[in-house]
Amino acid sequence: MSQFLAGRVAVVTGGTRGIGREIVRQLSEVGASVVLCGTEPRSTTAAVKELSEGGAKVAGRACDVRDRAQVKALFDYAAEQFGGADIVVNNAGVGVFKPLRELTVEDWHRVVDINLTGVFHCCQEALLRFGTRGGYVFQIGSLAGKNPFAGGAAYNASKFGLNGFSEAMMLDHRYDNVRVTTICPGSVDTGFSPRTGPASWKIQPEDVAAIVLALLQMPARTLVSYVEVRPSQPKKN
Ligand SMILES: NC(=O)c1ccc[n+]([C@@H]2O[C@H](COP(=O)([O-])OP(=O)(O)OC[C@H]3O[C@@H](n4cnc5c(N)ncnc54)[C@H](OP(=O)(O)O)[C@@H]3O)[C@@H](O)[C@H]2O)c1
Repeated sequence: MSQFLAGRVAVVTGGTRGIGREIVRQLSEVGASVVLCGTEPRSTTAAVKELSEGGAKVAGRACDVRDRAQVKALFDYAAEQFGGADIVVNNAGVGVFKPLRELTVEDWHRVVDINLTGVFHCCQEALLRFGTRGGYVFQIGSLAGKNPFAGGAAYNASKFGLNGFSEAMMLDHRYDNVRVTTICPGSVDTGFSPRTGPASWKIQPEDVAAIVLALLQMPARTLVSYVEVRPSQPKKN
């Protein structure tokens, strides 16, 4: 297999399961050194153990992306372990789905603080470390950032906000050799939402990871800033 990312260092938030875990796996398979995080120390340790089997360069530590000090410590850890970070995948995310009347202030903050403010923290810490060589930032958005739905007030707001944030960041830093791509999937087969039946029609986590790898192979002169990904044959209601 081509080792086209040999010598590159990636930080993947929410890399303990679901989409993030597959992104870690595929990045490390093509030679990148990868630092992952989740909030749970035990699942973080378990993910690192499994993903580094066979010699892949995967390390990790618990980090809650809502906390700037923990995010700074995560990037410092990437520097200690592998010498820096030049690819960042902002994948950590949660959903709380309730009609607005039932949504608590805590629900609102949980969703917006993880899905949007957490990305802000990671992007600023990444920019401090990219240096003149630049870097590549992937935001795992959602089609919910474009299509509102009932019960989605907090989640929709966070993912709509992420789109605006990411495009502005791309415009701010494209001349610093920083590429920013927002990948917006529809339904992906993870534990994010409870299974209500067969899920073979859904996008698989490895499909999203394959998009990250494909984009990393684009010529540096070309910036794909926004990608929508749908199940090709969604379940009919
Ligand atoms: N699944 C879908 O249908 C779908 C569709 C479109 C977009 N997305 C987006 O894709 C991303 C990943 O979703 P997924 O389906 O893979 O979810 P998942 O399976 O529930 O995994 C979420 C990951 O995020 C981590 N995480 C949660 N809160 C965190 C925090 N405060 N700080 C750091 N890490 C945190 C979790 O680790 P801990 O539990 O240890 O905290 C876990 O590793 C999310 O941004 C989601 O909005 C998902």
